[in-house]
Amino acid sequence: MKIIEVNHLSYKYNETDVAINDVSFSIEAGKYVAIIGHNGSGKSTFAKLLMGLLEPNENSIKEFGIDLNRKTIHELRNRMGIVFQNPDNQFVGATVRDDLAFGLENRCVKREKMDEIINEYAKKVNMVEFLDKEPENLSGGQKQRVAIAGVLSMNPEIVIFDEATAMLDPKGKKEIRETILKMKKENPGMTILSITHDIEEAYQADEVIAFNDGKVVFQGKPTEVLKDQKKLQEIGLDIPFVVLLKNKLEAKGVKIEGSSLEEVVKNL
Ligand SMILES: Nc1ncnc2c1ncn2[C@@H]1O[C@H](COP(=O)(O)OP(=O)(O)OP(=O)(O)O)[C@@H](O)[C@H]1O
Ligand SMILES: [Mg+2]
Repeated sequence: MKIIEVNHLSYKYNETDVAINDVSFSIEAGKYVAIIGHNGSGKSTFAKLLMGLLEPNENSIKEFGIDLNRKTIHELRNRMGIVFQNPDNQFVGATVRDDLAFGLENRCVKREKMDEIINEYAKKVNMVEFLDKEPENLSGGQKQRVAIAGVLSMNPEIVIFDEATAMLDPKGKKEIRETILKMKKENPGMTILSITHDIEEAYQADEVIAFNDGKVVFQGKPTEVLKDQKKLQEIGLDIPFVVLLKNKLEAKGVKIEGSSLEEVVKNL
């Protein structure tokens, strides 16, 4: 089932800057999709259009088979969640627990059910012992884990990460990558869109969509786009060293198995 259908979507912030330029494609339910592309290529604009934070042109976005418009926006937004780049801007509560409770209150979850849900989701992201801590005293990776728990506790069918790991150190990035994989395993029906400059993350996705100057220039398996050095350079992205090595060795007739970066490293 197509969970997101984009049909001739365009968006301009003003008369001169076309941020999204006549884009059409679809995403199947249950996929983990990495969205890549250079700075200013339109990725965040696309995410905001999907969330209804910016208004798309008429009949250009369908989610869950429903046209996104002013009438349907609340219903659709309730079925989706987004985690942004800067972990500091997404907390409202004095403690992690309050913060998670606030989101649930907004969804009219009953008090007696709330504690149970908060504990369940804090556990999923390994943050139970931080529930009574102040969010500002957490590390970047911990903050993003809380933000993810907050979004997940709403039971969204589509989750969008807009560079959720960009401000984290390598350890924090890895933590979030693993959290995403774990949540995908536990909720196979959930569709994940992750906007990322982290090629290792793109490697673990089911599918990669590449934006370039407001257009989608590629949609396919990560191994296909990430082995195409020319294409990556064209869209302004760096090819990971391990992939470079794999390509060079393969050009010399040495075959290296593996579809994920980890497998490739293991088989080198
Ligand atoms: N609020 C805004 N007002 C005017 N122009 C904007 C605004 N936000 C983004 N743009 C422009 O729209 C284009 C797409 O920006 P967008 O933020 O979607 O890119 P991006 O792919 O998310 O980039 P990055 O990787 O840097 O986050 C850029 O040319 C940008 O300058
Ligand atoms: Mg962006």
